[in-house]
Amino acid sequence: MKSIKVGLLGIGTVGSGTFNVLKRNQEEIARRAGRGIEITMVAARNTARATELTRGEVKVVNDGNLVVNDPEIDIVVELIGGYDTARDLVLKAIANGKHVVTANKALIATHGNEIFKAAQEKGVMVAFEAAVAGGIPIIKALREGLTANRIQWVAGIINGTTNFILSEMRDKGLDFDVVLKEAQRLGYAEADPTFDIEGVDAAHKLTIMASIAFGIPVQFDKAHVEGITKLQASDITYAEKLGYRIKLLGITRQTEKGIELRVHPTLIPASRLIANVEGAMNAVVVRGDAVGEALYYGKGAGSEPTASAVIADLVDITRLATADPEHHVPSLAFQLNAMADTPV
Ligand code: HSE
Repeated sequence: MKSIKVGLLGIGTVGSGTFNVLKRNQEEIARRAGRGIEITMVAARNTARATELTRGEVKVVNDGNLVVNDPEIDIVVELIGGYDTARDLVLKAIANGKHVVTANKALIATHGNEIFKAAQEKGVMVAFEAAVAGGIPIIKALREGLTANRIQWVAGIINGTTNFILSEMRDKGLDFDVVLKEAQRLGYAEADPTFDIEGVDAAHKLTIMASIAFGIPVQFDKAHVEGITKLQASDITYAEKLGYRIKLLGITRQTEKGIELRVHPTLIPASRLIANVEGAMNAVVVRGDAVGEALYYGKGAGSEPTASAVIADLVDITRLATADPEHHVPSLAFQLNAMADTPV
């Protein structure tokens, strides 16, 4: 069978990881997907760099429109980040009948409802595993592995930069600014690191998890968001003396009034597993009525961990689109639950 054709919008850290992992594991991936998955076109601002990263094996263009309008492309992978251009290209790709994979949490958290509606109308799939907790397959866990459960709450360390900062401040007594620079050097931080340290990045990811867990539309504007910028080294030391760790948690839970969505620094007893998640790692605890508490732990950022999630979505879409190319259910969109409404 012919391989499925993929176009990348952007080839930075995650894009190059996606290209490399797809190449390295192409046989296993093709076996699991039922056919080959091939990147045939990349749109990038720096075309010379994109040609170098893809070793001259892929057509490189400098306009994303050429990818989303190309009739040969089956799946568009959006890795440019940000809001407006990403939204515009994703909606064009959907209108052209292409499936979409994105790692863009800001896009899904703020424009997800519009994007899912467009995808549903067009009968294409939109997948975003890489948008939350990098390499941890938490979207699939919530949607598939835990699908028998009534989810009671989800709580997670879902921003590696802030967890790295809090860990380094505690362990090495370093100042906030020094550690932030290190997180930027290591490539964990967002282009605008205020999104990390003010809790916005975590709130984007929390919003997406809440939508899946509770079947509600994405409602980022309803989240309570508080970052770590007001924390001082002494807060961390005092917490430690009292037997607690301070972590930036994203918490969503079902209450009698609706769904709670909040991100803020939280005191956690040092004996809890999640309190011992250090450095840029992520961890998410889900409480379901049948499963009890389940903990998911792994790398929340970085080139190949995030590529692992992007490719998992490519494989899912390839399987579903190949099984029933005309009538596949856009099963990766939200199934809204009328019982669960506005977050409080
Ligand atoms: N800036 C994000 C983080 C990257 O630190 O977790 C992954 O989404």
